[in-house]
Amino acid sequence: MAQPNYKTVFVFLDTDKYCSPFDLLVAVDCFPDSMIFKYENVTGEDAPKIVFDLLFPRGPAGAAHTKIFINGSNFEEVEKVVTATQNAMKSAPWGNSIIVDPRGGYSTAAAAVAKTFGTAMEKGLGNLENKKVVILAGTGPVGQTAARIYAAEKADVTITSRSLAKGQIIADNINAEVGTQRVKVVEVSRPEQTAAAICDAEIILAAGAGGIQLLSKADIDSAAKCKIIADINAIKPLGVEGLGSNDDGVELKLGVFGIGALAIGKLKIKTETEMINRATAEAQGLFDYSIAYTIAKDAILKKLAKAAAK
Ligand SMILES: NC(=O)c1ccc[n+]([C@@H]2O[C@H](COP(=O)([O-])OP(=O)(O)OC[C@H]3O[C@@H](n4cnc5c(N)ncnc54)[C@H](OP(=O)(O)O)[C@@H]3O)[C@@H](O)[C@H]2O)c1
Repeated sequence: MAQPNYKTVFVFLDTDKYCSPFDLLVAVDCFPDSMIFKYENVTGEDAPKIVFDLLFPRGPAGAAHTKIFINGSNFEEVEKVVTATQNAMKSAPWGNSIIVDPRGGYSTAAAAVAKTFGTAMEKGLGNLENKKVVILAGTGPVGQTAARIYAAEKADVTITSRSLAKGQIIADNINAEVGTQRVKVVEVSRPEQTAAAICDAEIILAAGAGGIQLLSKADIDSAAKCKIIADINAIKPLGVEGLGSNDDGVELKLGVFGIGALAIGKLKIKTETEMINRATAEAQGLFDYSIAYTIAKDAILKKLAKAAAK
């Protein structure tokens, strides 16, 4: 019997009540002939049933063309779905590849950290090791993933939050993961507390919810040691006063370089697209934030090498 010509199928397991159209669109743009199946409000308990039902009908050859994309804004539930999916595959005769990018948090954070790394290298400030990084409102999917990546790069990380307790849970988890105290928390519940939180920062990443300004011009003027400021909020008002969405290495004041949300967004899309391409090229594997950061950092390193060769 002739081998079926398997179509690529992306199976979205989303822990939220609606599946983000953002990632559906990126997947369809990568593979216009693919099909999308989407499941919403998925929990760790639901995942194995769905996984078995998508693995068996196509057999091992077809399963290699079935890709699971795990999404959602609740990191804890997303982790449960990832673990349950991996465990289900371990007990099945074959598996398939799994992309994890909760609410774009992994690819966006990877791009944001890589862009700050690239600017630091370009401006002669060296790599991220031991750099004092402050992530403003660093408790959302993007901010906490950026903290995780900066910590893995051995930076000295501070996240701010309106709630010390909320931030502390995130810092404790990352510190346990890296095996040392690299992340601390400072409570910023009023704008006038921001200046004290950033007084030692060399790099500031504004990671707040859309449409909220976190950093004023006066705050920037007060941050005497700061060299790089990045913002991931593309919804007006933007996160950093005076930093435009498309700015990419623009000097905000003497010796302080800014990277805006859409400049980060370009690398984010490139990164997510490459995560999907790699997951599609491989029959199995986990494609998560660490792969996202490898992709984003490699793109920056290539750009730096090209500039150096000119
Ligand atoms: N550039 C890109 O390519 C790209 C891609 C995806 C997302 N984004 C953007 O990235 C940003 C972060 O996304 P996310 O999903 O991680 O964000 P999020 O979870 O919506 O918000 C991040 C944090 O902002 C803080 N926050 C919320 N409301 C606030 C308020 N009124 N005042 C002060 N702080 C407030 C909260 O921290 P506390 O409660 O701890 O204070 C929250 O944890 C958003 O602006 C999103 O639009 C950008």
